[in-house]
Amino acid sequence: MEYENKYKIRIENLNLHFKTVHVLKGINLSIPRNAITALIGPSGCGKSTLLRCLNRMNDIIDDVKIEGQVYLGDRDIYGPDINVTLLRKKVGMVFQRPVAFPISIYENVACAPRVHGVSRKETLDDIVTSSLEKVGLWDEVEGKLRKSALSLSLGQQQQLCIARVMASEPEVILLDEPCSALDPMSTMKIEELMRQLAEQYTVVIVTHSMQQASRASDYTVFMLSGEIIEFGPTEQIFTSPKDSKTENYITGRFR
Ligand SMILES: Nc1ncnc2c1ncn2[C@@H]1O[C@H](COP(=O)(O)OP(=O)(O)O)[C@@H](O)[C@H]1O
Ligand SMILES: [Mg+2]
Repeated sequence: MEYENKYKIRIENLNLHFKTVHVLKGINLSIPRNAITALIGPSGCGKSTLLRCLNRMNDIIDDVKIEGQVYLGDRDIYGPDINVTLLRKKVGMVFQRPVAFPISIYENVACAPRVHGVSRKETLDDIVTSSLEKVGLWDEVEGKLRKSALSLSLGQQQQLCIARVMASEPEVILLDEPCSALDPMSTMKIEELMRQLAEQYTVVIVTHSMQQASRASDYTVFMLSGEIIEFGPTEQIFTSPKDSKTENYITGRFR
């Protein structure tokens, strides 16, 4: 019971092949709820692929074979009778570069609840307002909701993309290198936002920046060639890693 409470996601013996390439190898990992978990490791080690397994975004790729279980709460998301659209509403995703649509700021947020069947204007207005408030963008955009989202700065666009995810009332938020296109100020803002979101949501982030992982996450997963080498509280991983490969990586001696 205590275990159920601490962890939101449990991955069991997950293997993923793209064609003949074995990309994720025997992944076992429990992701704590109401915390930020960072996936780190060298480029190509499988961070994004693992992240995409959590809302079945790899399903859309040809020639992919996925074996194993991923439990969200007590349900295996790869099990039978899983509604993938509903799953992606519960497990929302934010990408590396902000994908703001060339429509109004309002519509960028309202499109998510609309897809899920909300059509009443007052309800949509409320969702848009509260989602923008949650990401700290409301004060900046309140008077210009009908303006194009592309008129916003890149950092604001990334906040908007997070607001769009919030509008679907998710339980888990996945962010794949959400700050790599942003300047340091916007990066700081997104990191503060993630910290705030982690009070209510389970947050999983991929980052290639070890500084970001060490200052912005609670737990860190170190991956190498499709395997998890080490998982633990971020402070422990960065101050006293148990595996010499982790130590080599975080001290920059790796490769
Ligand atoms: N759509 C795809 N088709 C085939 N191979 C892919 C695809 N996406 C990723 N890969 C391969 O899977 C491996 C892991 O990629 P990825 O998860 O993107 O790594 P990371 O995010 O750690 O940089 C790489 O070898 C990459 O070439
Ligand atoms: Mg990646």
